Amino acid sequence: MSEPQVGDGAFPAPALVPALRVESLTAGYGDLMAVRQVSFEVAPGSLLTVLGRNGAGKTSTLLAITGFMRAREGRVVLLGEDVTAQPVQKRILAGLSCVQEGRRIFRKLTVAENLLIGTVPLRLPRSERNSRLQATYERFPLLADKRNETADRLSGGQQQVLAIAQALMSSPKVLLLDEPSAGLAPAVLDSVMETVRHLKDEGLAVVLVEQLVTRAMREADNVAILEGGRIVHYGPASDAAALQVAREVYLSERPQAPV
Ligand SMILES: Nc1ncnc2c1ncn2[C@@H]1O[C@H](COP(=O)(O)OP(=O)(O)O)[C@@H](O)[C@H]1O
Ligand SMILES: [Mg+2]
Repeated sequence: MSEPQVGDGAFPAPALVPALRVESLTAGYGDLMAVRQVSFEVAPGSLLTVLGRNGAGKTSTLLAITGFMRAREGRVVLLGEDVTAQPVQKRILAGLSCVQEGRRIFRKLTVAENLLIGTVPLRLPRSERNSRLQATYERFPLLADKRNETADRLSGGQQQVLAIAQALMSSPKVLLLDEPSAGLAPAVLDSVMETVRHLKDEGLAVVLVEQLVTRAMREADNVAILEGGRIVHYGPASDAAALQVAREVYLSERPQAPV
């Protein structure tokens, strides 16, 4: 009698399809390859933290995943679907959303208007847009209070919450966050991390680029460390070697390891 095989009903289905898989991704600006053969996976309900000093290629990696930068080589696979050749909008429809570096919100539009921009690529009926707005106000009460104020009236930390909430309006399965705490008080990262924890519980796959190494690693499942566009370390965040490599990378640039 033959052994039972995976998939024949005797065993559970093979491991979950990763929400995001990046395979040997290479991208650049002219002759400068800012992303070199980068590979990683993010499972549903997990957090990958991407670390690396300024210019390491973190933002470029996220831009190549979202499609703002063209992949020269490699693949981006979203929920099992190869989206490498797809434009940004199609990737959003397929479940990808990104909070770009520097809180790209519209300062002269209201909070509500900014949130609705997050749904534009989906062309939702008005009732669905409104129900997503309500759900967002329940998740982020401070945005409910300020819904009719222009975004420039919010503090930096509140603007970051707005940028994240806007990215969530498309109900993504994979969320990319590019340095959400940059230029803000360290407490902002605490609130970002709390939001990330809830999103993970809901099954979202999250990729977080951060400079605050220890804090960003505390909640992470896996860590990827970039240098010169390449991954120099990739593995579980609980692995002491990850923190060691991270500290070395940062210590070579800064007088003190970031908290
Ligand atoms: N628009 C651009 N044009 C040319 N080179 C760029 C551009 N943006 C970034 N770079 C270069 O690409 C490399 C990676 O940058 P980036 O991805 O922004 O790094 P990080 O986000 O890790 O700070 C750096 O050498 C940077 O100077
Ligand atoms: Mg960057």
